[in-house]
Amino acid sequence: MGDGTSETKSSNQMWGGRFAQGPAAIMEEINASIGFDKKLFAQDIRGSIAHATMLAHQGIISVEDKDKIVHGLSTILSEIESGQFEFSRRLEDIHMNVEARLATLIGPAAGRLHTARSRNDQVALDFRLWVKEELQKTEMMLTALIAAFLDRAEEHAETVMPGFTHLQTAQPVTFGHHCMAYVEMFGRDRSRVRHAIEHMDESPIGAAALAGTGFPIDRHMTAKALGFREPTRNSIDTVSDRDFALEFLAIASICATHLSRLAEEIVIWSTPQFGFVRLSDAFSTGSSIMPQKKNPDAAELVRAKTGRINGSLIALLTVMKGLPLAYSKDMQEDKEQVFDSAESLELAIAAMTGMVRDMTIRADRMKAAAGSGYSTATDLADWLVREAGLPFRDAHHVTGRAVALAEQKGCELAELSLEELQAIHADITDKVFDVLTVEASVASRTSFGGTAPSEVKKQIAWWRARN
Ligand code: ARG
Repeated sequence: MGDGTSETKSSNQMWGGRFAQGPAAIMEEINASIGFDKKLFAQDIRGSIAHATMLAHQGIISVEDKDKIVHGLSTILSEIESGQFEFSRRLEDIHMNVEARLATLIGPAAGRLHTARSRNDQVALDFRLWVKEELQKTEMMLTALIAAFLDRAEEHAETVMPGFTHLQTAQPVTFGHHCMAYVEMFGRDRSRVRHAIEHMDESPIGAAALAGTGFPIDRHMTAKALGFREPTRNSIDTVSDRDFALEFLAIASICATHLSRLAEEIVIWSTPQFGFVRLSDAFSTGSSIMPQKKNPDAAELVRAKTGRINGSLIALLTVMKGLPLAYSKDMQEDKEQVFDSAESLELAIAAMTGMVRDMTIRADRMKAAAGSGYSTATDLADWLVREAGLPFRDAHHVTGRAVALAEQKGCELAELSLEELQAIHADITDKVFDVLTVEASVASRTSFGGTAPSEVKKQIAWWRARN
């Protein structure tokens, strides 16, 4: 960074007409976005090629100039892709870096590219294209994660584990059913992604600075060439709008929150105390001092990445909340938040997909835990309602007494004798023991969306047809 005094460097070649002097070093430092928006080079060049082609088609520039422009832009694309391009901070951003290089390559024709266009609609276009592509990638990655869960659910449709509320043993469920809960969550994330792609499928180019243009451009043509459904309908909104970035961050935050809850469960499940899963070596680390340890670092980092992603959403909402229409330079702060979140989310989904595919399910440990903590107490109460005709509230009370007795004796409900149970309620028969096992408990829960293996298998089939 310089000392903040103005330099007598030549004035900017893009707007030099009005400026006698170049910017202060500190101005250049705060103003430049090339350090991060160079990520948009492919979208910028694609957008410019579509724009130049349309200008020539409409007779606004000559076909010869268009050909030079398109050829020059293609050269720049390969220069950037092969790492030969020299980005300059003095040229501020990706748009001016590309345009300046074009002028060097093709001469005066380069100056015609920016006809009927502003950097305001240009950046809105480039960034929207980038976010749309990122969402398409996210959609595919979520599909892979859902597929991993469907496989594990199928494999463990009958594996009994404790279901929790308040992280206290509640009722037995199957591991397959638990996996399918995540399928629902990531399925909703994926449909949010699809809706967002729909929302942002409108082309900004041609809105110009904010008011549109007097040149006879064809915005439908550029929209089509760039793979958008149609052009945006209001030029002021077009250059003011960053909803597409906010929607990306909101979706990423919700999805990261789901990933974080799963990460937390994996951390808990992989402790020796729970021992429900064993992580593969590929997704865990050891300790440099404690040889026995296997740490769930990948899960912990997935949990932590959520903080960054949520932070990005709040950061961009805060940038946008006070901006008058239309474009303000504040909006340049949109990109780093989205780029960082996109990278974090991709990593988190990929790591989680790997963990889910690789982890060993310890069915014996799950089953042992499923039976402890009086998890079939509700089944006893339901039996009293069904077989002995008790109102549920009374059945709840009777069951509570049975649990208290078992607790006092230090045994499970199924280990109480028939005599002991009959002393609590005379109508109990030895048939009751049929419902006190964890397998009977889960098999009985056949309501739509319930934990019975038969029901879980139906849900797996429903999702397989949609994944
Ligand atoms: N680098 C700018 C951004 O990311 C491009 C748009 C600049 N527009 C302007 N009127 N200064 O927002």
